[in-house]
Amino acid sequence: MKDLLTWRRQFPILSKCVYMISNSLGAMPRGVYDELEEFADLWATKGVVAWEDWVPMVQSTAELIASIVNAPKGTMIMHQNVSVLQHVLISCFDFKGKRNKVVYSDLEFPTVHYNWKAREKDGANVVIVKSPDGVHLPTELMLREIDETTLVVPISYVLFRSAFIQDAKAIIKRAHEVGAVVVLDAYQAVGTIPVDVQDLNCDFMVGGSVKWLCGGPGGGYLYVRKDLIGKYEPKSCGWFSHEHPFNFDMDPIKYSPTVMRFMGGSPGVQGLYSTRPGYRIVKKVGVKAIRKRSMKMTARLVERALEQGLVVNTPMDPAVRAGTVSVDFPGAEAACSELIRRKFIVDYRPKAGVRISPHFYNTDDECEAIMDEIAKMRAKARSR
Ligand SMILES: Cc1ncc(COP(=O)(O)O)c(C=O)c1O
Repeated sequence: MKDLLTWRRQFPILSKCVYMISNSLGAMPRGVYDELEEFADLWATKGVVAWEDWVPMVQSTAELIASIVNAPKGTMIMHQNVSVLQHVLISCFDFKGKRNKVVYSDLEFPTVHYNWKAREKDGANVVIVKSPDGVHLPTELMLREIDETTLVVPISYVLFRSAFIQDAKAIIKRAHEVGAVVVLDAYQAVGTIPVDVQDLNCDFMVGGSVKWLCGGPGGGYLYVRKDLIGKYEPKSCGWFSHEHPFNFDMDPIKYSPTVMRFMGGSPGVQGLYSTRPGYRIVKKVGVKAIRKRSMKMTARLVERALEQGLVVNTPMDPAVRAGTVSVDFPGAEAACSELIRRKFIVDYRPKAGVRISPHFYNTDDECEAIMDEIAKMRAKARSR
């Protein structure tokens, strides 16, 4: 633990508050200042020629994540965000045939739901599996719905509200058995639980940088399994998806044979600069070490929450609980605002409560302090 805490110096905000909101926006690494300066310097000095450095960043930045999730070279690119990536991937599918079923749960991040549900107009048969308790999603319920008519299963690895870890491997296996593919949203997973795209036999994986990877906004990432790259032709595309973007030809698009076919238009490179320091730190710290530390902290938070009689909207079983502990109680939303005012930075989500998300840079004392603060606030509210 001591070793992990030496990283605290790299995150300026940690000296100002108890920062436990890595499920939403991880702490900014100090190195981002230099990266953004490098971006501005390049633009100022090279002008348009800077694109020679910037375009390759779409893949070189993604390779930093690839090294965290065990993705082979040439299988990942950076994009803007998960919402756009869902859109790009949806545009690869045709919902007019018999195989038109899309299966996900009611605990998905709404971006997934909005995008796929909208395709009912194009023939998609969207089936939404209901969680029995709003926290867990029993794997059997998903497996039962994935059948020979299933086209795509767009699901999160870790559910954003409860931090439940889905059995992605079992779901992917079932999808493959019936001829379907899985679009795995690993936003709440990468950087806090070990993710290995090859072990999962993942088809597509999407995610972003601003949470457990401690990156800035504008750094969505896409993984496509190598053998699938040439099989899909995204209708949502752009000149960067073309095999020869600089031919500027007006014939129907000739897709790039590489993962760049999923790219679209010009990348938001300043965002990519802001993501790199976080990736490098997470890689150096190591996700195994992060997970070990996270499990210890979340277990203690759960223990303290139960002692206080709070509702814990997060799995009790540490094996299926990722980095967040969601606690609810009467007045939790107002309490969250008060916590932030008192410099305990967390967030509140309906049906979850206050989401507390320690990362490798948080201390045991901070975990105790936030639970003490909640206890104090509730005692005061009761005495009124
Ligand atoms: C699981 C999951 N997917 C996606 C997003 C965000 O999507 P986008 O990158 O489009 O903002 C979040 C943000 O909270 C999330 O938790």
